[in-house]
Amino acid sequence: MTRRSTECSRCSSSFFLPILFVVAACTAPAPSFTSGGNMQSGQAAQDQIAHGRDLVVSHACGDCHGGGSDPAAFGWLDGARSPVLDVQFFKIGPFTTRAKNLTPDNATGTGHFTERQIFNALRYGLRPEETADVDITSTVPGQGNFPLHPHYLAIPMPWPSWRHMPDQDLWAIAAYLKRGVKPVNHKVEDSEGPPDFWASEYTVEKIGPHPVRPYPTVNEKGGPEK
Ligand code: HEC
Repeated sequence: MTRRSTECSRCSSSFFLPILFVVAACTAPAPSFTSGGNMQSGQAAQDQIAHGRDLVVSHACGDCHGGGSDPAAFGWLDGARSPVLDVQFFKIGPFTTRAKNLTPDNATGTGHFTERQIFNALRYGLRPEETADVDITSTVPGQGNFPLHPHYLAIPMPWPSWRHMPDQDLWAIAAYLKRGVKPVNHKVEDSEGPPDFWASEYTVEKIGPHPVRPYPTVNEKGGPEK
């Protein structure tokens, strides 16, 4: 299987069309949160949820997970419903993958996941239901709580781009999904995938390192010649 064999228009040329999704990421002002995670309360918690909402709306999460960029739309973030290929479900080589229900429903959504598991999904691409709820301090499998045999999220979830967002932004998204959205009971069939849970698609050679390489690189002004 190669990426180019996929019929997914969002990822056929460069995996996730990072330009499409990331441009908006750079525009949101950084809030002055003193801590990440789910320990905030009162006004700080409300501000964190509002910030997470801005990021979700501006990062096209709803294009795949439901509702587009309108939190009032039917199906907001409750997972693939559209029967149209490449909108909410995808053909990746021989596999069908589907955008999951991100509302905090216990049976069909993220209800049983912690905000840290959602953070770990966005930063490291680790499937929440199959990844321990722990702080991860490495990007190397087997080190620093990074699972030795990671179960990654299916393509085309664009976590390789989102992982470069600041901690506070990823925590804010997790806070919004868990505490800012009403639970909706809507079952999305599981994604299919290769036996290595996409590990061979998410090597440093293919998706680059985290943190991102320092500026300027070979493609950027002032960087070394090719
Ligand atoms: C291009 C389509 C696409 C976009 C855009 C997208 N996702 Fe996803 N997402 C997916 C797919 C497909 C899956 C299912 C992966 C799997 O089954 O392994 C997924 C899975 C997830 C999961 C794991 C849910 C679970 O129950 O395992 C989370 C969390 C998530 N996405 C959050 C987000 C957020 C937050 C955004 C926006 C910042 C976003 N996604 C944008 C396609 C997308």
